[in-house]
Amino acid sequence: MSCKLLILGGTTEASMLARAVAERGMNAVFSYAGRVAAPRIQPIPQRVGGFGGVDGLVRYLHEHNITHVIDATHPFAAQMSWNAYHACREAGVDLVALTRPAWSAQKGDDWTRVRDVAGAVAALGGGARRVMLALGKLNLPAFAAQPQHHYVLRLVDTPEDEIALPHHTVVVARGPFDVAGDTVLFREHRVDVVVCKNAGGVGAEAKLQAARDLRLPVIMIDRPKLPPRLELAVVEEVLERVQST
Ligand SMILES: NC(=O)c1ccc[n+]([C@@H]2O[C@H](COP(=O)([O-])OP(=O)(O)OC[C@H]3O[C@@H](n4cnc5c(N)ncnc54)[C@H](OP(=O)(O)O)[C@@H]3O)[C@@H](O)[C@H]2O)c1
Repeated sequence: MSCKLLILGGTTEASMLARAVAERGMNAVFSYAGRVAAPRIQPIPQRVGGFGGVDGLVRYLHEHNITHVIDATHPFAAQMSWNAYHACREAGVDLVALTRPAWSAQKGDDWTRVRDVAGAVAALGGGARRVMLALGKLNLPAFAAQPQHHYVLRLVDTPEDEIALPHHTVVVARGPFDVAGDTVLFREHRVDVVVCKNAGGVGAEAKLQAARDLRLPVIMIDRPKLPPRLELAVVEEVLERVQST
């Protein structure tokens, strides 16, 4: 049977995989959640929007004759990853995750590790600081509990709704970012502390080097629990696996 891949995307790594799949002329479709107004155009057919939970994804897999799901979502997109895990089991479809190793603190880093976004909010107690919140828009409302800070928000789209943080600056930009750019950003906005998720990978790593260079403390949110699936970190390995099953 010829294979047909469903790539669950929304990351730099997923886009790298889509390029490799297109170069090989493989049959595949790329899926976006639809969080971003104008998602990056992929060199393979793409669809946008949720599937409708596990049942909806099982239906999609059957209707589109999907043979392999590649979960290349962000490590914090845990709901999608759990749905993919359960749906693939139910539909008898092969599942591979394209993951990126978590970042770990290096010499000179000043990290406070917290379990989740609520932990990051709690870690920001105390006097007013200028806080780089390198998080998606869905996580921002939680920080209203620490209204004394000035928050610098880097978002993919200009926000349509009011942001419920009394003091903030929005910077609209789309990764991947580089160290020089992030250093300038932190300096320009006089950032005192950086809050981010332990995403791992290359697309968002620059801010850690910039924080290191500027000796800024980092509040690092640990990854959520992900399903027990086969995880590969290299695009080539994912393609070899697909072609061998
Ligand atoms: N969370 C982050 O920090 C983060 C950062 C950068 C990029 N992203 C990307 O943004 C997207 C959404 O992340 P999230 O944290 O909101 O996800 P999530 O909480 O795990 O997923 C919530 C729901 O969104 C839908 N969904 C998520 N990813 C999808 C995809 N690739 N294709 C189709 N539907 C998808 C699913 O809806 P149904 O149940 O209806 O199928 C899922 O149940 C992901 O694709 C992720 O790779 C997330």
